[in-house]
Order: sequence, then C-alpha cells, then structure tokens
Amino acid sequence: MKVLVGPDLDPGADLAELYAAPADPWLRVNMVETLDGAATGESGRSGSINNAVDKVVYHQLRSLADAILVGAGTARVEGYAPVDRPTVVVSRRGHVPDLLRGGTPGSVLLATCASAELLDEASGLLGDEHVLVLGSQRVDLPLLKQRLAERGLTQLLCEGGPHLLRDLLAAGAVDELCATIVPRLVGGEHPRITQGPPVDVPLQLHLLLEHAGTLLGRWTVSPESRGVTEDVRG
Ligand SMILES: NC(=O)c1ccc[n+]([C@@H]2O[C@H](COP(=O)([O-])OP(=O)(O)OC[C@H]3O[C@@H](n4cnc5c(N)ncnc54)[C@H](OP(=O)(O)O)[C@@H]3O)[C@@H](O)[C@H]2O)c1
Repeated sequence: MKVLVGPDLDPGADLAELYAAPADPWLRVNMVETLDGAATGESGRSGSINNAVDKVVYHQLRSLADAILVGAGTARVEGYAPVDRPTVVVSRRGHVPDLLRGGTPGSVLLATCASAELLDEASGLLGDEHVLVLGSQRVDLPLLKQRLAERGLTQLLCEGGPHLLRDLLAAGAVDELCATIVPRLVGGEHPRITQGPPVDVPLQLHLLLEHAGTLLGRWTVSPESRGVTEDVRG
C-alpha cells in the first residue's frame, strides 16, 4: 500500500503503526463507500462494494479494538455473530439481533434506553449485567463510551451503520473516521455513510493510503467538534 499522506513514520511502517490510536479512550468508526457516495451496493449490504484491501484494513482495525460497536440495523442486515472480542449493539427498541443470541456471556452487550419495548427479553437473553440502560427515551452515546471505558473497553471500533454514525457525530462521541473509497460508481438509490438529520463535523486528514485505485483514509474529528453538539441525553 502506498502512503499518499501520513505522519512521519519509517517507510516500512506496518498497518498497526499507521492505525495506532493516539489516545485512550478512543472511538474510531470504519466505513466503506463508492466514489459516488453509496454505502451499499446491489445486495443492500456493504459486502457488495468492499474489496480485498478494504478487508485487510477492516481486520487490522478489529485487531486493535477492545470492542466492536454496531447499530442493531447493521447487525441485522449484515448478519453479525459473536467474535473474539465483545460486540456492543446499540438498539433503541432493545432488540438483540438473531445471530448475536446464544454467545458466551459477555460476548454481546446491548446499549439501549429505559423505554425500550424489548428490554426484558434482552435481559433474559444476555443477562442484566450485559444490558446497559443509558437514558430514558434515547441512548446516551457519550455515556455509553464512558460506561464501556469503566469496563476496560477503551479502544472502540464502530462499524456503522449510517444512522448510528450520524448520531455519534451529533453527540460529539467520534474521535476518528476511517473510510475506504472504492473506485466504483453504482448509481441507484443507496444510503450514504451518514443518514439522518444534518450534522456538520470538520475533519482533519491524518492518513491516506492507496492500493490499486482504492483510497483508505483516516480522519480525526476536530477537537472542537468532540463533546455534545446536540441534545442527545435520554
Ligand atoms: N458502507 C459501510 O461501511 C456500512 C457500514 C454499516 C452498515 N452499512 C449498511 O447500512 C445499512 C443499514 O443502515 P442503518 O442506518 O439502518 O444502520 P444502523 O445505524 O446500524 O441501524 C439503525 C438501527 O440501529 C439502531 N440505532 C442506530 N442508531 C441508534 C441510536 N442512536 N440509538 C439507538 N438505536 C440506534 C436502531 O435499532 P432498533 O430498530 O433496534 O431500535 C436503528 O433502527 C445496511 O444496508 C448496511 O449494509 C454500510
């Protein structure tokens, strides 16, 4: 992979060094999109637009994370199952996606709110200690970050989806966005990597890699945009 923009590192720096988090705790989001801004392809999943080099970085970022954070919609559509580190699902309704049921205790955590209609079911499936009730009507995302850090989960990797990314940005909870831009155009009607009400978040480019026309960027959220920018408290 060619480094087009990057910090002053040894030219032989590996991906773990290129993607090392500068602080702890740290919340990084990783997304993939086409050149015309689609976050999915014809299958309605990101699997129809990503490619081999994106998968390399995807796995590298997973290996650097203490926990994977994902919106329930993405977990349902993309068929998330338990992995070798905790998966934290965010669901307003308190829904535990089917394939995330039945893992070892603690392999799946749910972040939800007190008004969630499926709260009792979630507690029965995951155990009370693995269901984080954060807010009354909405999930308090900055509080989620804090609660996970208290459990020793400080390096967080969020894999979307677009609504959760938008809400995390609005809440000032994102430290870094990693985005892969694949050299394809797909037209059609597809979500972008953010969906929902407007946000305006300035970013600073930290790293840009290129491989066979695919661009892999790492942007940090400007410090003034971190901290609550919208009333997201429950
Ligand atoms: N290109 C990429 O990198 C990428 C990455 C991820 C996903 N995707 C694609 O994006 C699509 C899914 O989009 P999406 O926007 O629906 O995904 P999403 O944000 O993961 O899912 C939305 C659902 O997640 C829960 N949720 C999200 N934000 C929440 C919040 N702030 N508080 C409480 N619950 C919250 C809610 O679940 P409940 O309904 O259970 O309350 C909501 O209905 C799929 O096609 C997927 O393949 C693409």
